Amino acid sequence: MDIVLTGDRPTGKLHLGHYLGSLKRRVEMQNSGKYKDIYVMIADAQALTDNFDDINKVRNNISEVALDYMACGLDPNKVTIYIQSQIPELCELSFYYMNLVTVSRLQRNPTVKNEIQMRGFNTSIPVGFFTYPISQAADITAFKANLIPVGEDQLPMIEQAREIVRSFNTIYKEVLVEPKAILPDNSTCCRLPGLDGAAKMSKSLGNCIYLSDSSNDIKKKVQSMFTDPTHLRVEDPGHVENNPVFIYLDALCKDEYFAEFLPEYANLQEMKDHYTRGGLGDGKCKKFLNEILQNELKPIRERREELAKDLGYIFDTLEKGSIKAREVASKTMQEVKTAMGINYFGENKLN
Ligand code: TRP
Repeated sequence: MDIVLTGDRPTGKLHLGHYLGSLKRRVEMQNSGKYKDIYVMIADAQALTDNFDDINKVRNNISEVALDYMACGLDPNKVTIYIQSQIPELCELSFYYMNLVTVSRLQRNPTVKNEIQMRGFNTSIPVGFFTYPISQAADITAFKANLIPVGEDQLPMIEQAREIVRSFNTIYKEVLVEPKAILPDNSTCCRLPGLDGAAKMSKSLGNCIYLSDSSNDIKKKVQSMFTDPTHLRVEDPGHVENNPVFIYLDALCKDEYFAEFLPEYANLQEMKDHYTRGGLGDGKCKKFLNEILQNELKPIRERREELAKDLGYIFDTLEKGSIKAREVASKTMQEVKTAMGINYFGENKLN
């Protein structure tokens, strides 16, 4: 039976991109009852690789992310929610995996390359940051997870983990399990653009709708969205490609929403056709998108507000989850040590 693992860096509250790209799927997986175990990790140690000088940012966002998780419907009775840094076996595993990866292989990792550029590290790349794909392989393999629901940008990490598993299993012994990424079904959900039309919704770009945003915040943000810059007057023909309003609709819209909020169209295709022909204004499209977002995000926000009243419960949940996760990781660690013959006071006795 499958073991699912995924995680997020606690560098900010989670947003609509996280929800559509990953959280929604996790909740569906949890509720399907089809999986042996589901692990959801708050990757604080990984967040520190590029925020080591901003400990409080990472620290304060641990509970925010946990609140977002549970507000979306992740249930700690069904999934293990835990904090990465509380599982020291992950560092131990990473240390041995480092032997199996070359510097040039890390340099070729497109996600790392891109992040180095985005963070302006140039030639002064912290080693911890540079090697985080290795630690991510430890995150995954410590739990023998085979299914990793992630966004597209994480594919190179999963590939790197698979290579590490293959090397380890070939050089030592078949202990580790090769993971497989699972991307969202709806390809528009894979990489949701920002409100400003930028390629990605991201906290650092300030173009997000957060799961904790108030109804008024959502409305204002939708009104400010970038659309088709060539669509100047209502009568002008418009473009739905690269138009974030339509990309969000692609990601979120169900036919029922037309019956409820915009009955003049039966479905999104009809609405798009009208926009493309000309005669449909951006204001009306945004109003419809706002209704949908309000409808999708209200239950999440309300649950979040309720959960935030008892942070003690959240911390307790994270502590219990971390204890449980550590038991699993330390079992794998023992198997790894035995496979490597370094379990000197256990199965590989020195003599
Ligand atoms: N790198 C992931 C991100 O930035 C977070 C993460 C850390 C992760 N460890 C993981 C995701 C293991 C999946 C599996 O979103």
